[in-house]
Formats: sequence, C-alpha cells, structure tokens
Amino acid sequence: MNVEEVLKAKMKGVCRCCRNCDGRVCAGEVPGMGGIGTGSSFRANVEALKMIKINMSAVHGAHSPHTGVELLKLSLKTPILVAPIGGMDVNLGGGLSEEEYNSAVVVGANKAGSIAMTGDGPNLLHFKAGLNATASVGTGIPVIKPRFSEEILERFKLAAESGATAVGIDIDAAGLVNMTKSGQHVGPKTEKELSEIISKSPLPVIVKGIMTTGDALKVLNAGASGIVVSNHGGRVLDYTPGTAEVLPAIARQVKGKLTIFVDGGIRSGIDILKMLALGADAVLIGRPVTRAAVEGGSDAVKELLEKLSNELRTAMILTGCEKIEDIGRQVIYQE
Ligand SMILES: Cc1cc2nc3c(=O)[nH]c(=O)nc-3n(C[C@H](O)[C@H](O)[C@H](O)COP(=O)(O)O)c2cc1C
Repeated sequence: MNVEEVLKAKMKGVCRCCRNCDGRVCAGEVPGMGGIGTGSSFRANVEALKMIKINMSAVHGAHSPHTGVELLKLSLKTPILVAPIGGMDVNLGGGLSEEEYNSAVVVGANKAGSIAMTGDGPNLLHFKAGLNATASVGTGIPVIKPRFSEEILERFKLAAESGATAVGIDIDAAGLVNMTKSGQHVGPKTEKELSEIISKSPLPVIVKGIMTTGDALKVLNAGASGIVVSNHGGRVLDYTPGTAEVLPAIARQVKGKLTIFVDGGIRSGIDILKMLALGADAVLIGRPVTRAAVEGGSDAVKELLEKLSNELRTAMILTGCEKIEDIGRQVIYQE
C-alpha cells in the first residue's frame, strides 16, 4: 500500500482524503467528515476563498516577514490554530481514539508554537480527552457545546483546572442532533444568558459559530473575549454563505474590540493571508489537521502548521507585509 492508501485505510473510508478537501465527495456525511444536507455550506467556505484574488507586489522592503502574534495574552509563533474536532468514534469510525487524537493535535500545535482548541460531544470522554491533552502541555482552549448554563460553567471550571488558556462555546451546535439524540440538551443562548455565563467564567470566553454582525455585537456586549466566525465546517445548517463572505462585515463592527478567529475551508497559506486581509486576527484549521493527526500524530500536525506558516510567509513577501498586522484590505485585488 502507498502512503495515500494507508491513510485512507486509517480513515476507515470515512474521509476519502481528496487532494482538494472541498466537501464535494463527502456531501451529506454527518456524522462523518462532510457537510450537512447538500454539503453546500462546506463547499461555500472553499468557494468563497477561491473567488478572492491577491495584489502581488515585490517592490518594497519586506524581506523577512514575521508571523508571530499576541493573542489572548499568549505569544504565538503563528496565527494558525487548530480547530476543535470531536467524536472520533462517530465521525471517523474510530480510526484514532479520542485520547490519541486530542494528544496529537494539542501536542502538535504546541510544538509548532501555536495552540489547539478541543471539542465536546455526547460522551463525557470526548470532552475529557481534550482536557487531558491540555493538561499535558499546560495550554489549550476547550470548546463546550451550548448545554444548560450550569453544565457549561462546570466544564469551564474543569478546563481551568486543566491549565486551559481560554474556553469556548460552539453556539452553532444549538441544533446538533447527535447531542439531542443521546439525551443531552443543547440550544441557543440569549445575550443575557451569555452575559451571565461569561461573568462567572474563570477564563476568557470565545464564542464559536458567529455568521452575522448582529450575533457578533450581542456576543461583544455579553463580554466575550473572542469570536470564531464559523459555520462549523458546514456541518450544522445547509445553505449558509462561506465564512470569507461574512467576515468583512463582522470585522468592520468588532475588530479591535475582541479577538476574531475564522475557520472553514482554509487549506493554504494564501487562504490564511486572505482571511487575515478580510479582518481576522487568526485562523483555525479543521479537517486537514485531522488528516495529519491520523497520518502521523503530533509530528505531522506540527509539520502541517509549519508548512502553512511558511506558505503564509512567502505570501507576505509577495504582498509587502512584514508583520501580521500589515496584512489588510490593500492585499485584496479589487478592479
Ligand atoms: C468531524 C468534525 C467534528 C467536529 N467537532 C467539533 C466540535 O466538537 N466542536 C466544535 O466547535 N467544532 C467542531 N467541528 C467544526 C470545526 O471546529 C471547524 O469549525 C471546521 O471543521 C472548520 O472547517 P474545515 O474543516 O473546513 O477547516 C467539527 C468538524 C468536523 C469535520
């Protein structure tokens, strides 16, 4: 078997390991690695990024760009973080155990000078695996489903005890069937409910799954430290726009007031440059990291994050950006 066949076998056929991971082959495969329904929201993420063109420029003095960023009071070598992915049993046919997966991504991100978010799911082990990995390196961002408020706060406390840097709520999991089917409540939260949760949190809170300026402003008012502009990789609602389409308007409202993360269909350093130019402070990578983790554990995750950082650095040279903060709208080609 060649490397690709070995990877596919480890993925148990759930992920077809396409050269372009764009949601076409796996449309409708949730549980699995695909997007929900027609798969249009997953594809929209990839397509929205493809539409954007870059202004190439090499007449300047940006010789050795620096990809380091300060986020959530952390100094990171790169603005490329790991997205939370949970449920290896239900989504990946058990190709890796939840513990193995979380260890690979948290340790791999740490080795690359970055940080990983970890997931939550119907089985408490899904959440605990992220906490154990976080405790092993002393940094991580566990993201909790929009459960009853008391349950969220209990999990925030466990996250703080594990050494987490911040915590998250993936608010877009409000209708997640795999949670309700297994008897676990999830649902939307009002600004007031979020505000109460955030005021009692021992750690800064990031709200993941923001796709409108209205929600971004409510989350800002509720006291969050950050948002993730995300449609959950197209896994929760069919026919949403791509995240690159909604990011600019959201950034216009909240940039500088909270940390803006974005994810969805980001596959290269150029994609990362585009998202930063559209207003993100940092990006999260989902499925490609899962593939790396399955392929080669923490070392492969580290290599992937470093490869993307190198691609970003090259893109910065060719757009005249010495620092991450230099990447702005001037980088985007407009006729
Ligand atoms: C199999 C799978 C499981 C996921 N589990 C979670 C989760 O537990 N919590 C969460 O906030 N997001 C979860 N996500 C969404 C990712 O964090 C992220 O938003 C998305 O994968 C980004 O898109 P990309 O995979 O195209 O990079 C999951 C995504 C996949 C594919």
